[in-house]
Amino acid sequence: MKTFSLTWTTVALALSASGFGSVAAAPTAKPDVSYKVSSSPSKKSNFGLGAFIETNINSGTDGGLYAELIRNRAFQDTVPGSDQNDVLGQGTLASWSAVGSNSKLSLSLKNQLTGALPQSAVVSASSASSKSACGIANSGFAGVPVQQQPYALTFYARSPSGKTETTNVKVGLYSSDYSKSFVEKNVSLALTSEWKQFSATLTPSTSTGSNDNVFAIQTAEACGDGLQLNLVSLLPPTWKGTVARPDLAQALADIKPVYVRLPGGNDLEGNTIPAAFNWTNAVGDLKNRPGRTPTWTQSWNTEGLGLMELMDLTEKWGAQAILGVYAGYSLNGKAVAASDLGPYIQSALDQLHFLTDTSGKWASLRASYGRAQPYQLQHIEIGNEDWLGAAVNTYGPYRWKAFADAISKEFPKLNLIASTLLNGVQGAKDVDNHMYDTPDGMIAFADSMDSTSRDVNVWELEYAVINSGLTHDTDLYGGPGRLQHPTLIGALAESAFLCGAERNGDVYYSAAYAPIFMNEGPNLTQWTPDMLSFTPNQMVKSTSYYSQYAFGNNAIASIHSSSPSASTSSTKIYHSFGSTTDGSKMIIKMVNTNAAAKTASVRLDNQSRKFSTSGATIWQMKGSDAQAANTVSNPNAVTPSTGALPSSALQKDHSLSLDLPAYSLTVITIPYN
Ligand code: AHR
Repeated sequence: MKTFSLTWTTVALALSASGFGSVAAAPTAKPDVSYKVSSSPSKKSNFGLGAFIETNINSGTDGGLYAELIRNRAFQDTVPGSDQNDVLGQGTLASWSAVGSNSKLSLSLKNQLTGALPQSAVVSASSASSKSACGIANSGFAGVPVQQQPYALTFYARSPSGKTETTNVKVGLYSSDYSKSFVEKNVSLALTSEWKQFSATLTPSTSTGSNDNVFAIQTAEACGDGLQLNLVSLLPPTWKGTVARPDLAQALADIKPVYVRLPGGNDLEGNTIPAAFNWTNAVGDLKNRPGRTPTWTQSWNTEGLGLMELMDLTEKWGAQAILGVYAGYSLNGKAVAASDLGPYIQSALDQLHFLTDTSGKWASLRASYGRAQPYQLQHIEIGNEDWLGAAVNTYGPYRWKAFADAISKEFPKLNLIASTLLNGVQGAKDVDNHMYDTPDGMIAFADSMDSTSRDVNVWELEYAVINSGLTHDTDLYGGPGRLQHPTLIGALAESAFLCGAERNGDVYYSAAYAPIFMNEGPNLTQWTPDMLSFTPNQMVKSTSYYSQYAFGNNAIASIHSSSPSASTSSTKIYHSFGSTTDGSKMIIKMVNTNAAAKTASVRLDNQSRKFSTSGATIWQMKGSDAQAANTVSNPNAVTPSTGALPSSALQKDHSLSLDLPAYSLTVITIPYN
């Protein structure tokens, strides 16, 4: 984020002295909108920003947040472009290539490492003489980033013929044409018929801006018997002891989410019932995690960023988990029959015991995986989007009740969130709605939020402006207006929606943008726009990211009611007034979705309380182009600014007079006298 070195007061003085006007509106001008704001809080706010760590989509976990650099590390991927692979052990050599003309690569289901990772690669010589070296290379998820930092390499190997022999190999990072070697290390492998894990640390002597690199294992001399390999892993330094890519994890930490929803989305449901998220396959030693058919990508879902890894991240982000449990419905429209639901319900209960028990077999299992202390868990979402397709015909009639009753019986303190209230859902006190729309659609929704029913707590655990609205598409998802990246006007519409959620924070508990991650590599993205897009060595913060940054970093503990002089539908200016936990400051959020600058006046209803600009701050995102978007080639098209609120904003009558630039989100934190 850009930070002004001068305070806004200084800038204001300098600008007015040079005749360009000031950042505070002229006190005599009639403002475009005035607000009378209650000087005492009207209600407690329950609202907390959410983040949705949606697995698999856009290669955002494998290939993204999960720091693993080797793609198809256990030879499970589908042939790119072909139908999705549904069967364990039916993998390919995708993303792997032979090094040099002497190498032959093949897949083997013989001598399996584990039942979970049955396929392995055999590297041998292409000719019988085998006098030259042979090797295998991996090109990563759209490249391998090379920085001058330690990379932890681990892999399993055995002798393909089962002989006991020492094979000397070179492991290293190279440009894809092998003209540059960034690091190369000799490792002596004592191979036998048994699989053994080997490790090395690779520290390149230099960094490169190019991602067109590979990781390779080659024999150091004649190929001989070659090698049989599996579970090849290369991890750069990760975020705070987790397995996460540091820039992506830190960007998430910086928006200060209060809630983190995991693991999907559609990826919770899977394309078929056997492909649904099964927590037992997403915990423990990596060699015992079979992974599963991907819901979105063509890279096998490794579940390396599994249940505990996701919970660990949530904890490090200081957030509360909202754990999605599979509720017996998958994306092919098939629902588990009521009479067959038992094992699925038991699996959900076991998962909750595994995460939260303090003693017993599940607590011991968790401890054996390195976590003795139970995880904190308060919120469970049962299913995903059960208003869609055939899901709605079974959720209300039996699936919700079967899961909700069983979970509440064993875990009475857990808050259960329904994924829809349609079709006879009984007893749900909380519901997750999703909101994908155009800027106008999102703003129309924001305009309606003050009349939300107070009967049920609302969680909006997926929201985004996904279509520009400029082409008036009847299909927002498939029409030409579908956005590739969040735009400025889209982020402002989302900010108007977040203002609505804050104003109604007695009933709106959270909102989470979706999806968060987008791998920009060829054929790695399935859903746009996304909050953070990235290549192996670059991350781009979108306008929607900055909107969430503003709300997460300026959370309110209580809501101040306000009456604007004109309706939001006429002014196109949106607002939220709240106070900090200690009540010492008011936080004012204003969104100007107009193409022209506007002015606003804010007055407290009780003059016994007065604003002070001493220590007051202003944060602002603005731009002249409504369609501006931050992209890999133009990452800083729109960036926010922050500084001190100029004292000229405070008027003699103790009201605040504010300029709202065209297309802007402004957040003011102001103490009382
Ligand atoms: O966020 C993308 C997808 O949108 C989610 O997986 C699904 O829940 C929703 O339909």
